[in-house]
Amino acid sequence: MPDIDSVLQENRSFEPSEAFRAAARVGDRAEYDRMYRESIDDPDAFWGRAARELPWIKPFDEVLDWSEAPVAKWFGGGQLNASAVCLDQHLTTDRRDKVAILWEGEPGDVRSFTYAEAHAEVCRLANVLKARGVGKGDRVAIYMPMIPELAFFVLACARIGAIHSVIFGGFSANSIRDRVLDGGCSAVITADGGWRRGKVLPLKAVVDKALEGVGGVHTVFVVKRTGNEIAWDDARDVDALELAKTASVECAPEPMESEDTLFLLYTSGSTGKPKGIRHTTGGYMVGTYLTTKYVFDLREDDVYWCTADVGWITGHSYIVYGPLANGATVVMYEGAPNEPHPGRFWELIEKHRVTILYTAPTAIRAFMRWGDEHVTKFDRSSLRLLGSVGEPINPEAWMWYRNVVGEERCPIVDTWWQTETGGIMLTPLPGVVATKPGSATLPFFGVDAAVIDEEGNELGANLGGLLAIKRPWPAMLRGIWGDDERYRETYWSKFDGEYYFPGDGARRDEDGFFWIMGRVDDVLNVSGHRLSTMEIESALVSHAAVVEAAVVPRPDELTGEAICAFVSIGPGAVASDELAEQLREHVATEIGKLARPAEIRFADALPKTRSGKIMRRLLRDIASGREIAGDTTTLEDFAVLDRLRSDAE
Ligand code: PRX
Repeated sequence: MPDIDSVLQENRSFEPSEAFRAAARVGDRAEYDRMYRESIDDPDAFWGRAARELPWIKPFDEVLDWSEAPVAKWFGGGQLNASAVCLDQHLTTDRRDKVAILWEGEPGDVRSFTYAEAHAEVCRLANVLKARGVGKGDRVAIYMPMIPELAFFVLACARIGAIHSVIFGGFSANSIRDRVLDGGCSAVITADGGWRRGKVLPLKAVVDKALEGVGGVHTVFVVKRTGNEIAWDDARDVDALELAKTASVECAPEPMESEDTLFLLYTSGSTGKPKGIRHTTGGYMVGTYLTTKYVFDLREDDVYWCTADVGWITGHSYIVYGPLANGATVVMYEGAPNEPHPGRFWELIEKHRVTILYTAPTAIRAFMRWGDEHVTKFDRSSLRLLGSVGEPINPEAWMWYRNVVGEERCPIVDTWWQTETGGIMLTPLPGVVATKPGSATLPFFGVDAAVIDEEGNELGANLGGLLAIKRPWPAMLRGIWGDDERYRETYWSKFDGEYYFPGDGARRDEDGFFWIMGRVDDVLNVSGHRLSTMEIESALVSHAAVVEAAVVPRPDELTGEAICAFVSIGPGAVASDELAEQLREHVATEIGKLARPAEIRFADALPKTRSGKIMRRLLRDIASGREIAGDTTTLEDFAVLDRLRSDAE
C-alpha cells in the first residue's frame, strides 16, 4: 500500500512531570496496564463498575449483549436520562452552586450559570419544547451559534427524550434541508444570528431558506441573540426565550431506556449522502463520562475549555455530555480565535484561569503562524493540561503547543476518535504516558485496537496498515439513521464482522504506540472536519458549466488538507478565474463555506481506468506536485496525465 508508507520518524519523548504524575488519577504505567487488562479480559466487571458511577433511574441487568452484532446493546434493562446525569445529580452536592457553563460571546459579553441555574434553564426550555408538542422520539434539528442556549437546548431535548440533530452553524441551507428531511425532523431550533469575526451570521434566514417547501416542520424555535432583522412566520416561528420567561423551572426527566436514541449527528462518508450517525443513551453517557474523567484527569477546581463547536461530535461529547456528567466548569466561546486580535484565545485563558485546553491542530498551526507574541503576552500559568483532536498533529505543531503554549509544563493528550466512536479511543493518559510528538499513543480502556493489512492480518511494528478495532465499546454508534445496511457495510463488512473499520491508516511503533496516518477512503480532513470528495464533486457537477469533477486533498500547512478540484467543463463554458471563483462559491452555497475548494483546476479530461473510474490517486500526486507513484497500467489514456501535469506548471 504505497499510499500509507510511513515516512515519519520521531524519536523525542516527553514524560509527565513528577508533580503532575503524583496528583494524577492514574499515575503509573503498571496501574494503567492493570486497568486496561481488566477492561479487555473482563469488560463486564470494568464497564459495569464505570456505569454504576452514573445515576440510573433503573439499574441495568446486563452490561453487553453482542448477540446481534454488529448492533451492540449496552446496559440493557437500565433506564437513565442524559440531562439528569449532566445536571440533576449535582444538585444535591456542593456542585449545586459551582459554575457549570462559563460563556463568553465574541463581543466580550460574559454569562455564567451554576449547575442549579443551568438546570432551571434546561427545564424551562424543555417545557417550551413540550408546549409546542415536541416529545419523546421526535427529531429536532438545532442550528445555532455557540451560545449557552445551544447547550441548554441539547440538554432540553435529552430531558424530554427528543432526539437532537445538531447541524454545525457553517452549513448551507441545502445541507440543513437534506439533514432535516433525512432525519424526519418536526422542529428546528435556531437563533436570529451569531457573532463571527465581528459580523452577524444570519442563521434564521438560512433556516427559512432551508425549510422552503419542507412540509414536516411544525415549529421553529428562535433564540434572539444578535437582534438583527428576521422574517417571521406567525404560524411556525416562536420566540424561545420569551416563552421561557413564563415556563416552569421544573421538568421531570423522561426515563429513557439505555438503548433509546439520544442524538443523530451527520458526518461524511466516501459515497452517498451524509450519514446520520445514531448514538444511544446509556453507553454514550458511560463512555463520554469515563473518557473525560481519565483523559483530562478532571479535578474539582479545573476550568475546562474545549474550543470545538457543539455542532461537531467533539462539542457533543467534550463540551456538553462528558464534562457536565463529571460536574466540571466548562468554558464556551462564541466567536473566532482572532477576533478582535490574534491573541483572543490566550486572553480568554488568562481571564478565566483556564486549566485544561482541548483544541485542534488546525487552530494550533494558525496560532503558530500568527506569531508567538500573541500567545506569550497573556498569562498562561493556569494551564496544566493540553489536548488535541480532529486530525493528525504534525510534530512541529505539537512541539510548539508544548513549548510556547504550555511552557513545557503541560502534558499533551493527542486524542484519536471519530463521530462514530462517540468518545476518545486512542490517547495518552496524561499522568502515565511518555508522549511522543504526533502519536495518539495507546488505547483507552476497553479499546482493543490493531493495525492490520487488507487481509486482516495484524502487522508488526512500524508497518503501515489499516487501523481496526476488535470489539464493541459503550459509546460506539448503533447505526446510521434509516440505513442499517449501510452501517454494516461501511464499518463491519471489510473484515467479516471481526473488526470495526474506521477508515484510517496507522502504524504501531516498537513501544506499541499508534501513529495515525490519515484517511484511506475518499474523505478529506480539512481543519479537522471530514468532507466527502463525492459530495463536493456532486456540488460541482450541479453547476451548468461542469461536466465532470474530481476532488482530491493536497497537503496544506494550515488546514492539514486543502481541497483541490479537477473540473472538466462543457463546450459552452470558458476556463477562467471568474468561472473558478463562481464554482468555489457554488460549492459554498450547496454545502457550506467549509467545503469551498482552495483550488480549481480546469482539465479537458480526467484520468480514468478502463472501467471508467476516476483515478484520484494520480490526481492526488498531481495536486501535491509529487511525481506520480504507483501503478498506472490500468489508466485508459496516458496522454491525459501529461496534459494535466503541464497545465499544473
Ligand atoms: O481521520 C481521523 C481524524 O478525524 C477523523 C474523524 O473525524 P470526525 O468524525 O469529524 O471526528 C473528529 C473529532 C473526533 C478520524 O477518522 N482524527 C481525529 N482525531 C485525530 C485524527 N487523526 C489523527 N489524530 C487524531 N488525534
